[in-house]
Amino acid sequence: MLILGIDTSCDDTAAAVVENGAKIISNIVSSQTDIHKKYGGIVPELASRRHIEMILPVVDEALKAAGAGLEDVSAVAVCHGPGLIGSLLVGCSFAKALCFSKNIPLIAVNHLEGHIFSCFLEEPRPEFPFISLIASGGHTSLYRVDEFGKYRELGRTRDDASGEAYDKVSKLLGLGYPGGPVIDKLASEGNPKAIDFPRPYLPESFDFSFSGLKTAVLQYLRDASRITRNEDIAASFQACMVDVLVRKTEWAIKKEGIRRVTLSGGVSANSELRKRMKEMGDERETEIFIPSINLCTDNAAMIASAGYHHFLNKDFAGIDLNPKAYLPL
Ligand code: KG4
Ligand code: ZN
Repeated sequence: MLILGIDTSCDDTAAAVVENGAKIISNIVSSQTDIHKKYGGIVPELASRRHIEMILPVVDEALKAAGAGLEDVSAVAVCHGPGLIGSLLVGCSFAKALCFSKNIPLIAVNHLEGHIFSCFLEEPRPEFPFISLIASGGHTSLYRVDEFGKYRELGRTRDDASGEAYDKVSKLLGLGYPGGPVIDKLASEGNPKAIDFPRPYLPESFDFSFSGLKTAVLQYLRDASRITRNEDIAASFQACMVDVLVRKTEWAIKKEGIRRVTLSGGVSANSELRKRMKEMGDERETEIFIPSINLCTDNAAMIASAGYHHFLNKDFAGIDLNPKAYLPL
């Protein structure tokens, strides 16, 4: 059974065809990085305009690459939030029009649920229950996932998301957007112990807070006497970020008594985080599931994968579906 997934929640126009919620038949992502990088971050108005230009060719390409027509698709799953409202509107309006005109069932998928289900698109797949860390440009949260549709938030960021902190620190260092991949690369050539930036553990809860870490980097850079190389600043910042994300996940494993963890969202593409999370898993005899890099960042295959379970539950959306910028899981 084929589901066409669509995601336009942020700055990527994405469409994919997935079989039975697990097998990727096609997965197309049109990135807008070139448009936004000169501004050092995403400009929402430019993002939605680009989605309007790209949505039809991207969906067309996904269907062609899958060798499928709309008549082969059992449902269209679209991300309806959270995200940039103008961007979400493009994907939702397009999906609604497609479903209405071709009489195809419509499914609404939460973007965060999509990120969790990116871990079901490759072998081995996690069994329930598991702890899920979502670390991306817009979100950083820990969930306990007992089954499809049963999510309990253990903690979330109180201010900046982890990817947002990467992007802001990159901007402070005069490096490009998105910051995560640039800092990841630079950090591999630096000394993670060069600067002792604060590690915001918030030991009383599973919440995160990264704005202080970002400010510490800013203050450090303002110090005219500094002689540290950008490589060392990047490595020291990344060491704090990874320490906090891994340690908090470790606490969640212990508290919930669950020895399975999924990691998803753009920051899970980070080489140091992937390595350290796996090391922690080995020490704690815990299975760690991290998708391939192209499934960590935004894509529509993850939306189709989650959409499949909504389909099985006959959980369909109406033509009155409206996207929401804020949408808890
Ligand atoms: O999941 P995603 O594509 O979009 C959101 O839902 O936000 O995540 C994008 C974020 C950006 O902040 C980007 O800097 C970060 O993921 N990112 C990384 C890496 N690759 C992407 N952060 C750290 N290391 C990376 N290698
Ligand atoms: Zn995302």
